[in-house]
Amino acid sequence: MRFERKNAIKNIIIAEELRGKIAALSDIEFPVLYSANIEKTIDSILLESENGILLTVLITPEHTYKSIYKHLNLIDYSRIFYQMLLIGSEEELNDRNLDRLYHISDFLPETATEKKLKFVINKSLSIIEKHFQNEQKKNWYFNRLTDAQRDQEDLINIGKSLSGEKDMEKLLRLILYLSKKITGADAGSIYLVEEDENEKKRLRFKYSHTFSREIPLEEFVMDMNKKSISGYVAVTGEVLNIPDAYKIQELAPYSFNPFFDRQHSYISRSMLVVPMKNHLDQIIGVIQLINSKEDHNGVKKYENEAFEIKLESPADFDRYVVTFDDRYNSLLEAIAGQAAISIENNRLINQIQKQFEEFVKASVTAIESRDPATSGHSFRVAQICKEMAFAVNEVHSGYLKDFTFNENDIKELEFAALLHDFGKVYIDLNIFKKAKKLYPKDLENLKLRLDYLYRYLELAYFAKEMEILREGLNFNKPYEEELSRIRSEKTSKLTRIISIKEDLVTLNEPTITDRDPEQVLEEILHEIENIECIDITGHKVDILTDNDRVNLMIKRGSLNNEERLEIESHVIETYKFVSKIPWPPEYRRIPEIAMRHHEKLDGTGYPDGLKGKESVSIQSRMMAIADIYDALTAQDRPYKKSVPIDKVIKILKEEADNNKLDSDLVDLFIDTKLYEKLSTTATAPD
Ligand SMILES: [Fe+2]
Ligand SMILES: [Fe+2]
Repeated sequence: MRFERKNAIKNIIIAEELRGKIAALSDIEFPVLYSANIEKTIDSILLESENGILLTVLITPEHTYKSIYKHLNLIDYSRIFYQMLLIGSEEELNDRNLDRLYHISDFLPETATEKKLKFVINKSLSIIEKHFQNEQKKNWYFNRLTDAQRDQEDLINIGKSLSGEKDMEKLLRLILYLSKKITGADAGSIYLVEEDENEKKRLRFKYSHTFSREIPLEEFVMDMNKKSISGYVAVTGEVLNIPDAYKIQELAPYSFNPFFDRQHSYISRSMLVVPMKNHLDQIIGVIQLINSKEDHNGVKKYENEAFEIKLESPADFDRYVVTFDDRYNSLLEAIAGQAAISIENNRLINQIQKQFEEFVKASVTAIESRDPATSGHSFRVAQICKEMAFAVNEVHSGYLKDFTFNENDIKELEFAALLHDFGKVYIDLNIFKKAKKLYPKDLENLKLRLDYLYRYLELAYFAKEMEILREGLNFNKPYEEELSRIRSEKTSKLTRIISIKEDLVTLNEPTITDRDPEQVLEEILHEIENIECIDITGHKVDILTDNDRVNLMIKRGSLNNEERLEIESHVIETYKFVSKIPWPPEYRRIPEIAMRHHEKLDGTGYPDGLKGKESVSIQSRMMAIADIYDALTAQDRPYKKSVPIDKVIKILKEEADNNKLDSDLVDLFIDTKLYEKLSTTATAPD
């Protein structure tokens, strides 16, 4: 509520029945009315002057006092200030009730002289006047107090609203909206200070809104100097409260540019322009408010009426636009201060977030570059997870309809996906690269030992042949038969060694064969063990080492039990590492989400063999699908071909049917053809 001065109507009302009975009044400053019904006369005066306040002296016979007093009691006290001068006899004076005397200025007989009458009237008038002034002052202070209280509330509320907004664009909109609402402004703009490549400061017109016009927003940049109004405020830090932008003094360093007004048939008249200063007192921007519509014709801003008046015709501008109240200079400065801090906080948070995001991405890239064949996996899994979250948000039936991922949830999921295989950094890279049951060098060594065995046998048989020949020739004994037997034995054994070599190479393949590898290996071992093979130091040569045996006995894939457990430990390592990062509360679930991407709903997964949907978060269940999808489709290993999409779909469905993957999520993935949305370039940034 703002203080408004109302007109004061001053007069003297004399009861008609006293006309001619009391002394005539001359030289009285105020009009004198004679009235046959004082109550009615007062009512009609008040009715005629809607906002007026009646200051009056009523001269009336004592016997009418009661009814007049009763009637006046019904009228709003703020609308009438009066004193009564009663005319009566001595007897009537004796009967006077003494409890309401403050409204009675005096009691006079009809015979009172004009002099006495005038004195009492003037005294009454000055009592009324004083009382009226006191009331006005009281009201003024009360209104000031109410305004100050409301301003303070506004400021607190603005502080709260601004500190809760993280989106920069939304924050700027909110700052301008609240500034306009409080001051009843029709339009406003926000400028932000920025630096160009040469560190020269400039002003960016960032956001603007005009209540009375639909105007598209286009950002632009201008030089930061004192020539423009916003530039002046940005350079000097002064607050400008301009009553009329078209009447700025010629001597002023700044001037108004009417280009916008002309373009949009608008009249920028009153302006309040304040700097936004941060905690270091640096100016980071400017808030410019245009055309206050507050408090015109009794319109109150807190009812939002002023704020919502549309300025359409030029006459509307004349009628509604007023100068911004001076008290808004400091209030808006305080708001701008809060806005500046919020903007800076926002920038800082965004910067930290961006830096952190880049750091995570760079770390993931570094880890993935250890094994170029799988690089980009984490980025692709993150992208798939994000797309799945968007798809879940669109589901309106089934249990998935109860899940919604907000911006934070999606960021959380993205970070978890980026880091899901981080624990692999602790694992011997060779295990990941192990394509066959034996490492290449182990296979080479095995082959070399078999070659050695081959030559050893060959040599042993040559020696035997020589011996047979030597004995035959020296002692003239028949030897051909024996020689031929030995030669055929030699050929058979050597041929077998070649075939063993081939068998072992076949056994080394990770593919599943009809024959049990353990059985094949047992046979080979049995054969080889019966062949004596000595090295140059005289020791028996073990053709198949313990390591060869363990690995060649692998029934499925290329990893032995120990290696498989080591690979599986990557999720625990991921958890340990990711838990060390001091995540903000909104990302607190990241370690758990990341750790669970290899759990299967039937309890056959790892690390904990959790069973059922309830025990694994939806995020981890999504990640499990994304992880398998990427592992199948990625052309990561030179020896591994990418699986075609229809086969991938079949595999995912089978996994869902076997209660390993969440079937609703698999259906969503397939039904929405989510895989088609995935960019083929979702790899690590360069
Ligand atoms: Fe993994
Ligand atoms: Fe993975």
